Amino acid sequence: MRCAFLVRLLLCAGIALIGKVHAQETLAIRAYQANCASCHGADRRGKIGVPNLADKIWLWGGDTASIETTIRHGIRSSDPATRQGAMPGFKHNDAELTDENIADLLVKLRQLAGRQADAKAVERADENWVWCVDCHGKEGKGMQSIGAPDLIDGEWLYGGDKQSIAESIGEGRKGVCPGGNGKLDDAAIKSLAQWLAEK
Ligand code: HEC
Ligand code: HEC
Repeated sequence: MRCAFLVRLLLCAGIALIGKVHAQETLAIRAYQANCASCHGADRRGKIGVPNLADKIWLWGGDTASIETTIRHGIRSSDPATRQGAMPGFKHNDAELTDENIADLLVKLRQLAGRQADAKAVERADENWVWCVDCHGKEGKGMQSIGAPDLIDGEWLYGGDKQSIAESIGEGRKGVCPGGNGKLDDAAIKSLAQWLAEK
């Protein structure tokens, strides 16, 4: 008798918990479709310049707290606490890189990724690679604290063909995410962060 009661109690608690998780997920999916899907896609897979939120790669960190910060304040948004830092255009700043310099840097990236690369070009590129290491790291693996992507994982936010990579380096990039944009309440932001971190 007592045993049956316990079983029923556990069952009820279980159902209540599943119900709560389900309600949170519904809230997240609704908020996502209304506020995020237009850019990140209904399937969360993004497009050129807009990151895939369904994979394991995170520019700004993939734990729940990091994702929550991204959604709450956005990236290069108008929020005063926005995430910032950007990819400079190296044709137009102090480095004044030429197309040839950039072509050599592309070879350097191939070498860092463990692929075959012309040693002479890599040697020439090393002189300019110093411009990159503060943000992308000596080995090109990126830095989540400033949203600098891993350059050797074979995944490219802005396209992985030579021309797209050269354009990223020469002209710079500044992707903007409005995040919740002041429109989402705390519960929606938290449920979105949880949902995106768990997938
Ligand atoms: C106007 C288009 C747009 C909308 C709307 C938008 N985003 Fe974004 N989002 C972006 C872009 C572009 C980036 C990449 C920013 C960068 O380059 O760092 C981004 C980045 C992110 C990231 C960081 C991904 C990573 O790899 O670290 C998260 C998380 C995110 N968005 C979530 C959301 C959520 C949740 C919503 C809805 C509440 C939303 N975004 C709405 C364009 C958008
Ligand atoms: C001040 C920090 C900073 C420096 C210095 C910097 N980068 Fe970046 N880089 C970034 C950030 C941040 C992004 C992502 C911009 C965005 O998401 O819109 C980026 C993006 C890129 C991309 C696009 C990656 C992709 O996935 O499409 C390439 C390629 C790149 N950087 C190469 C370089 C090279 C080569 C150098 C040195 C010549 C360099 N970066 C120097 C911060 C930096």
